[in-house]
Amino acid sequence: MRSVLYSLALPLAAAAIAVSPPVHPSPEGKGTGRWADAYASARRLVRQMTLEEKANLTRGFTRGDNVCAGNTGSVPRLGWPGMCLHDAGNGVRATDMVSSYPAGLHVGASWDKNLTYQRGVYMGKEFRAKGVNIALGPNAGPLGRTPLGGRNWEGFSVDPYLSGQLNAETITGYQDAGVIANLKHFIGNEQETYRRPYFGVEAASSNIDDRTLHEYYLWPFMDGVQAGAASIMCSYNRVNNTYSCENSRLINGVLKGELAFDGFVMLDWNAQHNLDSANAGLDMVMPLGGSWGQNLTQAVRNGSVSESRVTDMATRILAAWYLVGQDSPDFPPPGVGMKNLTQPHDPVDARVPASKPVLLAGAVAGHVLVKNALVEDTRRALPFAARPAMLSVFGYDASVPPTKNTDALFQLGYMSSQEMGQAVLGTARHFDQAARGGTIVVGGRAGANAPPYISDPLSAIQRRAAVDGTWVNWDLTSPDPDVNGASSACLVFINAMATEGWDRDGLHDDASDALVLRVAAKCANTVVVVHAAGIRLVDRWIEHPNVTAAVLAHLPGQDSGAALVRLLYGDDNFSGRLPYTLARNESDYSVYAPCGRGRDNTTSPQCDYTEGVYLDYRAFDARNVTPRYEFGFGLSYTTFDYSALSLAPEAGLCASAGNGTADLWATLARVEATVTNSGAVAGDEVAQLYLGIPDSPPKQLRGFEKVPLRPGESATVRFELTRRDLSVWDVTGQRWVVQAGTYPVYVGASSRDVRLTGTLVVVEGASA
Ligand code: BGC
Repeated sequence: MRSVLYSLALPLAAAAIAVSPPVHPSPEGKGTGRWADAYASARRLVRQMTLEEKANLTRGFTRGDNVCAGNTGSVPRLGWPGMCLHDAGNGVRATDMVSSYPAGLHVGASWDKNLTYQRGVYMGKEFRAKGVNIALGPNAGPLGRTPLGGRNWEGFSVDPYLSGQLNAETITGYQDAGVIANLKHFIGNEQETYRRPYFGVEAASSNIDDRTLHEYYLWPFMDGVQAGAASIMCSYNRVNNTYSCENSRLINGVLKGELAFDGFVMLDWNAQHNLDSANAGLDMVMPLGGSWGQNLTQAVRNGSVSESRVTDMATRILAAWYLVGQDSPDFPPPGVGMKNLTQPHDPVDARVPASKPVLLAGAVAGHVLVKNALVEDTRRALPFAARPAMLSVFGYDASVPPTKNTDALFQLGYMSSQEMGQAVLGTARHFDQAARGGTIVVGGRAGANAPPYISDPLSAIQRRAAVDGTWVNWDLTSPDPDVNGASSACLVFINAMATEGWDRDGLHDDASDALVLRVAAKCANTVVVVHAAGIRLVDRWIEHPNVTAAVLAHLPGQDSGAALVRLLYGDDNFSGRLPYTLARNESDYSVYAPCGRGRDNTTSPQCDYTEGVYLDYRAFDARNVTPRYEFGFGLSYTTFDYSALSLAPEAGLCASAGNGTADLWATLARVEATVTNSGAVAGDEVAQLYLGIPDSPPKQLRGFEKVPLRPGESATVRFELTRRDLSVWDVTGQRWVVQAGTYPVYVGASSRDVRLTGTLVVVEGASA
């Protein structure tokens, strides 16, 4: 078994042209389990519809009375109102009177399932209040194959397990609030370079072997389907040379077949190239009729699409609507709060007072402290002494941008619509890596929204200074600022921006690094804060003796400055952990550049995922490359001890194959450990479990629990390992299998700070 799997894991030969075999027919939604009632209601309503009415459900229409990213048709004859579809990532986009939540990457850095669920619920309530039926998120793709990916920050983590857990919490939260989640982008949407076909050049083809597909890119989508995601958005790119939205192997075969997905598959905007996508399993086209327009009914009449396929589309769409309770008479009319902001309108205030603590806690939780040096015998740079006498603040990222806009790109300062057009192609232009127009709380375009306010670092520090009597100096523009020699501490704020439509040009920029070094040359206690829409390297300055502390502050949303001040002054403790590996050099990543860049003569860009699942820490571990800060790392103001590892069963498990999806979620093993706060202040520890699966990367994340602990307090952390957690994908058998072998279990504070080690043994046995 072992050697068979190993050979199956071999990557695609780069020279071979990858193909995606057709899989037909498109499985009809079954409506089992949690879907049963919703399907019964949907089938009742669909039975009364004409073909035209069913087809109208599956496509978009222009509506003058709202700015929703898309609107489905309605069926007035049967009282069905249609649906408004709208973005997404950190709050309701392109409107007023909503909140700006921490962005995906920030949530990933929190490693906090409970807070992620609550964020989902409150964000979901805001979508609902605005009359948005379908929230176009969360995001499980891109995962972050290339660290330069322009949209990596919209998702939670490059690690499929962490991404999957937090996607599941978000989906449950949205749908508990009554909004249809739309898990996107399915699948292999790993770069913005060549993201769409343009001027005769096809979109990039992500050529992914079957094992890598299952164990990496599909993994978080499995969690989403398991959590009940009512819709999934297919992606712009091709996979194995077939466009994702007409890829019957992926939609019919994997999603609706293997994963038994009962929701509907929605087109990414204008990503349809072929009416036959209906037979490949696509259920809804957006923003308008796509190539199916009026032609879908025509296609049924001429026999190229069956009416039962259209009935299945309509049933899946309506079942999603019923599943989350949108048949309730108090669900707001579609798009009611989504008026054109330049026209007179009575704004619908969607914010819920009870969300305030969740917004602030979420902003706090995604900050990762990576350096905190001793500045006196026993005192570290952070937290600040109770009342610092003098603080000096530097850097373009310390204060609010001069203009408020709905998708944060204004901070870049110079992106014209022509540049945006080129950005879609993604080859011609790039922007300065830093957004110099002010602090960033989110990345750009579909994942962004407008905040009610921005609590920026400098104002939050000044508010605190007013209470404490601290003297504050600031210079946010000079590349080489003067520093008052009496400063208790100097704070330097820099950022790294990223946006949909454009991959990043690098992982650090010289101007920002130079600013840090110039301040550090003059100030013995320099604290660097980096707002970052992705991985941002720190090696140019992290070892400078005057850089006494460094914080990766990610994208905190509206309460950015307030959250930071709570952390700097020790009102709250740092509890964020890196949801990615921070390398010393760009070249340390197993995949760095987006594929196709610089190859301007290609008309069919090919991205061979020859690295398989060896990305981020899986690759650093396997190749023995030392990172600057490893996956899962983050400092705290306290310390934690780990003890008393226990594993069950102690006897060997039997090797076996899963029979279908349901038993993949059965618990096969339990692991427990005790975590104790051994320091002097309260703090949250993120206990992490990594598993060594035979013929796989040395360690893979398979559990994490965030526990709040007072000084001296202990807690038991419990991890349940499911059949899927122990399995690899057997390409020949097309099933998940638990191989015989020895599985090291590592429990600790990061992927490299292992505190406890145990072993699970799987012996040869009869198939389950
Ligand atoms: C993006 C999607 C987004 C949609 C609607 C597309 O360009 O890729 O993520 O949901 O637009 O705004």
